[in-house]
Formats: sequence, structure tokens, C-alpha cells
Amino acid sequence: MSDWVDVIAERALADGERIVADVDGTDVAVFKIDGACYAIEDVCTHDGAEIASGVLDGDEIICPRHGARFCVKTGAVKSAPAYEDVACFPLRIENGVIQVKDDRWD
Ligand code: FES
Repeated sequence: MSDWVDVIAERALADGERIVADVDGTDVAVFKIDGACYAIEDVCTHDGAEIASGVLDGDEIICPRHGARFCVKTGAVKSAPAYEDVACFPLRIENGVIQVKDDRWD
């Protein structure tokens, strides 16, 4: 059973920004868009690049390596050259702190 992992104080993450955190050994990118926060795995399904440093276009992150797009709200792939979704993780805010858990193997 996975546990919630503290990432950052919610107020410390500005709108349109992102941060990468280690959640039980997985690199997770946490984004804030229009006041809401989302967490996806920071690994492109095309060729394994990190994606958090890419350009954010609305609710889509563009992989800096070859330009695949993923929805940061759901992890859904939106354009080639990637064809598989990235993992999307549960996120909550507890006492002002963003928490994420990797529940893929619960
Ligand atoms: S590694 Fe992300 S598009 Fe190729």
C-alpha cells in the first residue's frame, strides 16, 4: 500500500509552474494550472526523456526532446511521436502541502 508523499507547499508553486519530486523512487512532475494541481510521471513514453522542462501549452506539456504532447491533467498522449499515455497520480492538499502517491501497484 503506497503512502502520500509531501511535494511542496501549495502556495509555493505558482500558476503555470511545475516541480519534479521523487515519489517512492519515481520522478513525478507536479503542475499548477488555473489554481489546480496535477501530477504525472516525468518520463516521456516515446523514448524516456524527462518532460517537465518542456513548454506548457494550456494543459499540455510538450516533450523537449521530440515534441510529443501530453495532457498534464490526465497523462493522455496528445500527439506523436509518442503513442502511449504517461502515468497520472492521485494528488491532494493536506494542511497546505501538495501530496502525491504512486498507487500503480496497490
Ligand atoms: S522522448 Fe519525448 S518525444 Fe521523443
